[in-house]
Amino acid sequence: MSDLTRLYDEINQCQRCPLGRTRTRAVPGEGPEDAQIMFIGEAPGFHEDQQGRPFVGAAGHFLEQLLASIGLKRRDVYICNVIKCRPPGNRDPLPNEIQACAEFLDRQIALIKPRVIVTLGRYSMAKYLPQASISRVHGHPQRVGNVIVLPLYHPAAALHQPRYKADIEEDFKKIPLLLQESVALDEPPPPAGPVEAEQLRLF
Ligand code: URA
Repeated sequence: MSDLTRLYDEINQCQRCPLGRTRTRAVPGEGPEDAQIMFIGEAPGFHEDQQGRPFVGAAGHFLEQLLASIGLKRRDVYICNVIKCRPPGNRDPLPNEIQACAEFLDRQIALIKPRVIVTLGRYSMAKYLPQASISRVHGHPQRVGNVIVLPLYHPAAALHQPRYKADIEEDFKKIPLLLQESVALDEPPPPAGPVEAEQLRLF
């Protein structure tokens, strides 16, 4: 059993916060253990809660279209969420829920070791850029340690608001070049953390 599978087992049994009692299934995340790109969404919704898989509803369908636009399939990338269980009624995640799940996400990132992390929406952006406004920083890659973080609007928001849709489609096109640029970051890694986030001047 791999470390990632062991982590999934822990997440599936987790009772660290009250969502453990209301979920149908936990949604640990999925994708290759050596994925170079990791997408981090917000929280499972209805369909994800039913199936135990991330981004399988309408937002997931749109995410797959965006991936196809840059020649990728979902099996090429790793997909997970800030919190692993559905908040009732799809409400926003609460600070205690994010806190309870933070260690799972950190372990996932440490095991996958992605080169590029694409944050989808405000909650995953806040992990790296707690003070940022998504309308200002979306599409602007940041270097965090030896990883490139690209903050994007959430696909669900983009589905409902045409102006976000054009932005996310445009921002997505930056991913292939960022992947190339990330190879240069294999050099000595500075310490990671929000304060070290630094905007890359690639665009
Ligand atoms: N929205 C998310 O943020 N995550 C999912 O898994 C599905 C919808």
